[in-house]
Amino acid sequence: MTRINNNYTQLQGSYLFSEIAKRRTKFMQENPNAEIISLGIGDVTRGLPNTIVQAMHKAVDELANPATFRGYGPEQGYDFLINAIIENDYKARGIDITTNEVFVSDGSKCDIGNIQEIFSQDAIVAVQDPVYPVYVDTNVMAGRSGQFNKEKNQYENIVYLKCDASNNFTPNLPDRKVDLIYLCYPNNPTGMTLSKEEIIRWVDYAKANDCIILYDSAYEAFIQEKDVPRSIYEIEGAKEVAIEFRSFSKTAGFTGVRCAYTVVPRDLKAKDANGNVLLYNDLWNRRHTVQTNLHTMLCTRTSQTVKCLSVPLHLQWRRDC
Ligand SMILES: Cc1ncc(COP(=O)(O)O)c(C=O)c1O
Repeated sequence: MTRINNNYTQLQGSYLFSEIAKRRTKFMQENPNAEIISLGIGDVTRGLPNTIVQAMHKAVDELANPATFRGYGPEQGYDFLINAIIENDYKARGIDITTNEVFVSDGSKCDIGNIQEIFSQDAIVAVQDPVYPVYVDTNVMAGRSGQFNKEKNQYENIVYLKCDASNNFTPNLPDRKVDLIYLCYPNNPTGMTLSKEEIIRWVDYAKANDCIILYDSAYEAFIQEKDVPRSIYEIEGAKEVAIEFRSFSKTAGFTGVRCAYTVVPRDLKAKDANGNVLLYNDLWNRRHTVQTNLHTMLCTRTSQTVKCLSVPLHLQWRRDC
């Protein structure tokens, strides 16, 4: 008999959100009149606005016409979307990102799950606690977690950064050497954001301690305050220490359409086992070209429209409903 990847035996139960959905369904069947506030997976609740639907129809026509049809696209994503992302999400905020630093995909969940592949097997991982489960589970699968401690409800080799009412849901800097720090802002599940000064503290820490921040900003579109950065790259020097994940899921109601992107700056340096300096950007590009073809023309054209709207999406929803 063949043997399994033994790291999988360290996973606890099922994926958190599947477990919550299963229990919710069971509870609803047993209590059909109960009003439920679900703390499970945060899905969107509106249909797509008309502008987006029209863009999708147009993309179908483009695919139907032999003259404009496109099959396999560039693995990193089509330039027309990457340019729209750079113009609207970064250049508009004074951030200089180049086309070869943006990688389009079918979702942040996949990118966040896959990114750990480009890091060393013995990298020490720090996560906020509570945390979006993908950060932990993918590192368990990769063998970085150590044993699960049932008493503490934590993995032995993962560094947990407490976020509760006692510290205003804002984590302290790690108290020991770590290599990878997953930060999620605005945070799922606490809803907390970090001010510019607080993010500067993390960037300075990462620089001083030679670690990388994996910055999940899936919920950046909800930020209203002026002093809360939308992107970690609003902080000077962050391109040397941070990878950023962005998703269209919550921004544009794309949980069913699927589109996201990850920024891996060319300033982010790595070392191989012999001490040679490499770029994480090259590694991620290599991985992306080998293992993805997931963003479709339909999603890409539609996402381009999202980025180029003159009327913000939330106002379009209001107009359509
Ligand atoms: C914190 C966080 N990051 C990433 C994702 C995944 O986003 P996507 O739909 O792009 O896979 C979610 C989805 O709920 C999330 O809550």
